[in-house]
Amino acid sequence: MSNITLVTYASRAGSTAGVAQAVAHTLKDRGIAVEVCPMRDVQDITRYRAVVAGSAVRMSQWLPEGMAFVEHHRQQLLQKPFAAFVVCLAMAAKSEKGLEKVTAAAYLQPVRTLVPTVSEGLFAGVLDLSKLPLMYRIPFRLATLSGIFKEGDYRDWNTIHQWANDLLPKLVV
Ligand SMILES: Cc1cc2nc3c(=O)[nH]c(=O)nc-3n(C[C@H](O)[C@H](O)[C@H](O)COP(=O)(O)O)c2cc1C
Repeated sequence: MSNITLVTYASRAGSTAGVAQAVAHTLKDRGIAVEVCPMRDVQDITRYRAVVAGSAVRMSQWLPEGMAFVEHHRQQLLQKPFAAFVVCLAMAAKSEKGLEKVTAAAYLQPVRTLVPTVSEGLFAGVLDLSKLPLMYRIPFRLATLSGIFKEGDYRDWNTIHQWANDLLPKLVV
């Protein structure tokens, strides 16, 4: 086994890819050897010391290739430190009781049922209507007009870097 940590992601419109790159950047800055790769391109995880995997959320779920990754590599993942994160709009809504965290953590339930996580990152994502296929652009446009959502980039880079920083000792076991 190498000393490399895999940071892998499932993204449709690019915001989760950006979060994965930021996590990898922080780990690299702290001296960790890291490879970043979309989940779809990962063949074999045997050689990685640890795995950090994150997905965008659609319809309250990790993207299909995200779940397929965890299912396919489950036996290997069970033998390594495994951290997971979600990128979603639920986290963009800040409530006094922190209900957004409960919602976002629930998106990870199917993942942690398959493989226990050493840490979970819950991150706000992006709503950019111009990047959505037409079939989604119309309902999301209606949702913005009715005030349910507001377009914007809600990624909080400090929170993301802090999570990656705190992750470090959990990946080195
Ligand atoms: C069709 C669609 C469904 C979505 N469903 C959810 C959802 O159920 N819960 C949520 O919090 N965010 C949801 N989102 C918001 C995305 O998770 C958010 O825009 C994220 O940043 C997208 O990541 P990506 O740019 O990597 O694809 C949805 C977005 C789209 C386009």
